[in-house]
Amino acid sequence: MLLETKNLRKSFPIESKLLRQVIGRVIAVDNASLSLNKGQVLGLVGESGSGKTTLGKIVVGLIEPDSGEIFLQDKNIKNFTRKERAKKIQMVFQDPFASLNPRLSIGTILAEAIRTREQVIGNRQQVEKIKELLNLVGMPTNILSDYPHQFSGGQRQRIGIARALAMQPEIIIADEPVSSLDVSIQAQILNLLLDLKQKFSISYIFITHDLSIVTFLADYILVMYQGNIIEEGKPEEILTKPKDKYTEKLFNSLPKITCQIL
Ligand SMILES: Nc1ncnc2c1ncn2[C@@H]1O[C@H](COP(=O)(O)OP(=O)(O)O)[C@@H](O)[C@H]1O
Ligand SMILES: [Mg+2]
Repeated sequence: MLLETKNLRKSFPIESKLLRQVIGRVIAVDNASLSLNKGQVLGLVGESGSGKTTLGKIVVGLIEPDSGEIFLQDKNIKNFTRKERAKKIQMVFQDPFASLNPRLSIGTILAEAIRTREQVIGNRQQVEKIKELLNLVGMPTNILSDYPHQFSGGQRQRIGIARALAMQPEIIIADEPVSSLDVSIQAQILNLLLDLKQKFSISYIFITHDLSIVTFLADYILVMYQGNIIEEGKPEEILTKPKDKYTEKLFNSLPKITCQIL
């Protein structure tokens, strides 16, 4: 097993601005157990607020869970340093406008990622690597001194993917990576992610709302509701015979944008 999570749980305080105190807690992720095999695409679906992003961020290490465990290749993730973990798991974020630091040039953003992986690297070699990454994601290689605001949503998402690739990860958590993009651009980015999967045998946890995407991409689907994984199975099983009423309702309400993926 490449990745396994056991009973992950995370709650956040609910603060009352008026009373200036914590008045309760929202359980964002409750008892979440999943496993990801090498080369697999796990589709994670669920309505907004069901805990998908929180679960993704726990796996990548951006949020510390209250309890539960994560295993990478059967080793507890606690035995990995931050850097070792980053080399294994990367995340591509939903909002390409928020996920790139606007003050840093594209060259600097990618150089930082490369230096996280390889400490000693000459300048020339670094530029070569940056260009290689830009090539991989279908971006021109003369944009090193440009800034994120000069690019469209789709281009920024490509740069975000390049940054993730700099770590040569085995797992990418893609959190609704195309939902903020024009429909015409969505298919291009999805194709890029598929290409990279084939090229580098990357495994994905693919968070999405779009039924056509999840049925096309995912080998296995997890359905989240109020922090819990309430149903799981192969796409054809879940779509044709949903066990849970919520899953049925969710699939009926999901936007059916049939984008041309291939
Ligand atoms: N940093 C946070 N502080 C407080 N509540 C949060 C925070 N992040 C997420 N939540 C809450 O946790 C729940 C799950 O959120 P999230 O993981 O973003 O769901 P999804 O990605 O499925 O929309 C929601 O109720 C959300 O309001
Ligand atoms: Mg989310």
